Amino acid sequence: MLLAQLTDTHIRAPGSLAYGVVDTAAFLERAVAHLAARAPRPDALIVTGDLTDFDRPEEYARFKALTAGLPMPIFPIPGNHDSTQGLAVAFPHIAARGQGGKLNYVVDDFALRLVMLDSSVPDAPYGLLGGETLAWLDAALAVAPDRPSLVALHHPPFLTGIRHMDVQNLQDASALEAVLGRHHHVLALVCGHVHRTVLTSFAGRPASICPSPAHAVSLDLDPEAHPTFHLEPPGVHLHRFAGGGLVTHLDFIGAYDGPHRFFDADNQMLDGTVRD
Ligand SMILES: [Fe+2]
Repeated sequence: MLLAQLTDTHIRAPGSLAYGVVDTAAFLERAVAHLAARAPRPDALIVTGDLTDFDRPEEYARFKALTAGLPMPIFPIPGNHDSTQGLAVAFPHIAARGQGGKLNYVVDDFALRLVMLDSSVPDAPYGLLGGETLAWLDAALAVAPDRPSLVALHHPPFLTGIRHMDVQNLQDASALEAVLGRHHHVLALVCGHVHRTVLTSFAGRPASICPSPAHAVSLDLDPEAHPTFHLEPPGVHLHRFAGGGLVTHLDFIGAYDGPHRFFDADNQMLDGTVRD
């Protein structure tokens, strides 16, 4: 199974740029074209929050219009710029899967089971799962102990060293760690929120943050730094599940020099040497 992950698209109404600078819709258009052209084609796409910039119906509508051409099913969860209610209204088929007033749901259609968590808190930048969602997660994992699973949520439950993001990460990380500790068939945890690739381990398994297809939070490890962003090469993550193992690739979006061949027609390595 090949699972694509897109996150933090921050779509705004037409004619409006994020922070007065970033045309997030144009970046999403390029991400969609990139994913649609990738071969082999991803089987599914998860979108780990902040689909919109201000949780407005026209922003969800624009996100849906921009992604309508994708051939694979899309499984979104809310981030802090979205809301449970806003996303539920925009994606009623996802809302139908949600339980307990939150958009927590399982996707059981693939070899890798996807467990999607709603960590959004109304009007707050930080994330919280809370007792109901954690109990739901525990039960959702317990019913399929033999199914390799991936858990997705917007807010990372770990520190990145980027202070202004760390103060708005998942507030009940230790409770999540305790739940995951009971379910060894969870292969990995994937998040968004920080707009750049970050890799670590959490509850004894790989954990990652996916970059945005638009702006990146600056890699600033100075705790006194003013929050800024850069327009770094945008990307998505591709999670490849094969032979029981899960591997994550950072897949840059854009035109880069290449492909160049390693070998010539006689299978000799091209070393660039000019011979007489
Ligand atoms: Fe974001």
